[in-house]
Amino acid sequence: MEYKIIKFQEHGDQRGMLVALEDNKELPFQIKRVYYLYGTKSGERRGFHAHKELQQILICIHGSCKIHLDNGTDTAEVLLDKPTEGLYVSHNMWREMYDFSKDAVLLVLASECYNEKDYIRNYDEFIKLTRKKDN
Ligand code: TYD
Repeated sequence: MEYKIIKFQEHGDQRGMLVALEDNKELPFQIKRVYYLYGTKSGERRGFHAHKELQQILICIHGSCKIHLDNGTDTAEVLLDKPTEGLYVSHNMWREMYDFSKDAVLLVLASECYNEKDYIRNYDEFIKLTRKKDN
């Protein structure tokens, strides 16, 4: 499973809506870190990296943004515009985030703590590593 949209259960009533996420229930890994992107300037593109081990779930809890995914062979573009949907992204997947609406808040649930050594920030290196794995 390299990437997948996960639909979360909504707990709504006349007061409003609520989504709850728990390890190993709604999520395929234990969360070690949470961070969020907001105030992203119009036209900015972020990301430009892959991870060696890290898995993530990206949830646009407010507004919208798009995610470009690339496994070294195929690419995909995913629109995130619902607080009830998460995009699971495996390791070894190049990602770029773009087309952020002004009000976008992109919440990220991560399987590992922040570790710069887990990043592949050079696209040519990423392609070389994925080709090596395929052989
Ligand atoms: P960066 O990796 O450039 O973000 P993106 O890939 O979304 O464009 O991160 C921006 C800064 O934030 C950078 O200085 C590293 C820091 N950072 C942390 O300290 N902890 C974290 O968990 C993350 C994701 C980033």
